Amino acid sequence: MISIKSDREIALMEEAGRIVALAHRKVREAIRPGISTYELDKIAEEVIVGEGATPSFKNYEGYPASICASINNVVIHGIPSKKIILKNGDIISIDIGACYKGYHGDSAMTHGVGEVSPKRLELMRITKEALFTGLSYAKPGNRLSDISHAIEEYVLAHNCSVVKDFTGHGVGRKLHEDPMVPNYGAAGHGPVLRKGMTLAIEPMVNIGKSGVRIMADGWTTVTADKSDSAHFEHSIVITDDGYKILTIEGDENVKK
Ligand code: MF3
Ligand code: CO
Repeated sequence: MISIKSDREIALMEEAGRIVALAHRKVREAIRPGISTYELDKIAEEVIVGEGATPSFKNYEGYPASICASINNVVIHGIPSKKIILKNGDIISIDIGACYKGYHGDSAMTHGVGEVSPKRLELMRITKEALFTGLSYAKPGNRLSDISHAIEEYVLAHNCSVVKDFTGHGVGRKLHEDPMVPNYGAAGHGPVLRKGMTLAIEPMVNIGKSGVRIMADGWTTVTADKSDSAHFEHSIVITDDGYKILTIEGDENVKK
């Protein structure tokens, strides 16, 4: 069942989203060659806890950290570690969730470390643009798969592939709520979007083929062909005439 959030609930989700965005900014400012993903995890955790929230991912189905930090061919769910040190030229996907007064915000973005190759910069640009292309279909009356289809179409047109084994999702009282939001498929299917639905849209895009594998730790998800991957995610609410991004700081929202 897809829950429709009240204005009160949306206000709490905006606060959760602001905290996620703040944590992203602090992590981004710390990213440089030589820093470990463990240190990035601690930075995010301190921001989240300092703002009166809790890290959504910690202990979620046994996940051991506050953020996911996924480098190069790691697609998602990279577990922060003192042994994983950023190098010049890497790309790193940071995924952060925070729960404030019982409501979650969830957002991911990929950053370059130092000087990054044009190919990797292009992958990041395509993935971010795929997210916003999908979001342009997030409005009342459209079907959910209109978003999914637009994401896949954009990615394929740019000679990359979308990961199919993981999807976006509803978000709110739980980190993962109905509906699942695939990043592929035909348009015109699934539930009709309605004001007050809250969704986490999150394309994961590979330079190579779409297949992924999960490593022996049960989390770290890598591309099967070892190609690079990027990930952008925002939590949004469907509004009267479009959507509003929840995982953003202040008034950066551009109404669509
Ligand atoms: N953004 C990811 C998701 O929505 C992060 C989940 S990591 C986990 O699935 F540890 F919480 F699973
Ligand atoms: Co998510």
